[in-house]
Amino acid sequence: MTDLMTIMMSPPAEGPAVLDLPAPPHVPRELIRDVRRYMGQAPTTVAEPYEHTEYLLSDEVPPVMWSPFPAFFAPGMWIFTRYQDCAKLYQDSATFGSHGQADFQQLIGETFKCIPLSFDGDQHRVYRRFLNPWFTPKAVGAMEPAIRALCDRMVDEFLEQGGGDFAHDFARIFPVRVFFDLMGFPHEVLEQFLVWENEILHTRDPQRMAAALTDTLAWLRGFIAEKEANPDGGLTSKIVNGEVAGRPLTADEKIGTIFFLWLGGLDTVASTLGQMFRRLAMDEALQQRMRDDLSLIPSAIEEFLRTQPLVFSFRQLRTDLTLHGVEMKAGDWCSALTSVANFDPAAFQCPRSFDPARKANRHFTLASGAHLCLGAHLARLEMGIALERWLTRVPPFRLADDDKREVFPSLMSVSHLKLTW
Ligand code: HEM
Repeated sequence: MTDLMTIMMSPPAEGPAVLDLPAPPHVPRELIRDVRRYMGQAPTTVAEPYEHTEYLLSDEVPPVMWSPFPAFFAPGMWIFTRYQDCAKLYQDSATFGSHGQADFQQLIGETFKCIPLSFDGDQHRVYRRFLNPWFTPKAVGAMEPAIRALCDRMVDEFLEQGGGDFAHDFARIFPVRVFFDLMGFPHEVLEQFLVWENEILHTRDPQRMAAALTDTLAWLRGFIAEKEANPDGGLTSKIVNGEVAGRPLTADEKIGTIFFLWLGGLDTVASTLGQMFRRLAMDEALQQRMRDDLSLIPSAIEEFLRTQPLVFSFRQLRTDLTLHGVEMKAGDWCSALTSVANFDPAAFQCPRSFDPARKANRHFTLASGAHLCLGAHLARLEMGIALERWLTRVPPFRLADDDKREVFPSLMSVSHLKLTW
């Protein structure tokens, strides 16, 4: 049998190759596949970074496969590629439990859980009821003038320079500044936060992850203590001094909530904006169509989101399940391969064509069901303002250096995107 480490260090296979690796005894050996290439782990320079996922929808490839690669908490997992199976994973929490898939803190022996993601059912509802009021369209809408002013200040710098690195100097920073203002974090730690977040989410090195987790949690706990002593108008202060189900939060609930918002709020919008503007810079006709009709922005945002999913959600089976004739066991981990399901022709007409006016666009990029992204309205507001200000104020733009159009079709997305006009 092949050694797991050797395969993990090797580049992802071209197709969903069958692998000779260990798996639980109930997993049929022909379903043990290398799907890393479809999970955003390989960069590409093509115009449509997700085009290769089409192969996974063909009749040659099983609709359910087993990925033997450990993902921190899961030794391996079932991979779902079809829209209806991913919908079930997200929406049927009686079968698919949301059990600590982002509880990275376990790596350093912490026992608190991420809130609200690591809970289901009544407990999850209690936490969402507590948090939702700060993330409604009305609540985030109150931030609109400040977000617009921030965006305009940042666009001014690009206009003065006649171009610049959109991914590094705009997308990476703009949503994080908005998030900092929301949470009340001091702006001096912005670069440090981004370093820690990168170490935790993208290095896949347990030692570096552990060091960054230790520093992040120490910083956040210090900040929480300060807000308990000196409450202010920031969201961190409101959360840690608030009441959940009529009682104060425990210390674990405070850090579990603030840490998970920290994880969710830093690079998700940045990655989305990077891919969005990459497409606009490479597709002159699309850019012009949107310039001519800014009312397309809301539907275009959904189409950008659909065609550039970033997150593969994990769930753990609460019961045995048979899907497409494959027997799965309670306790098995499963993942929704949104990079395939968002292009399933069973759910979307002409799924590979980018239609900024697409109607009823029920993609999974912001999830679905009870765990639908809490920050969705804020993310949409930020993306809408960025699109509107750039398309209104900046002349038609294109890539300054066509060689540098590398993108990871995932959360790592685009590090550099030099634009010129
Ligand atoms: C385009 C940007 C974003 C994307 C693509 C995104 C994606 C997602 C996805 C896929 C989930 C579900 C995870 C799962 O069920 O396994 C999720 C949940 C969540 N997101 Fe986002 N997110 C974005 C922006 C944000 C922002 C800006 C924040 C915070 C300000 C945020 C906070 C959260 C929280 C707290 C949850 C957990 C919800 C729950 O468990 O009920 N997200 N997000």
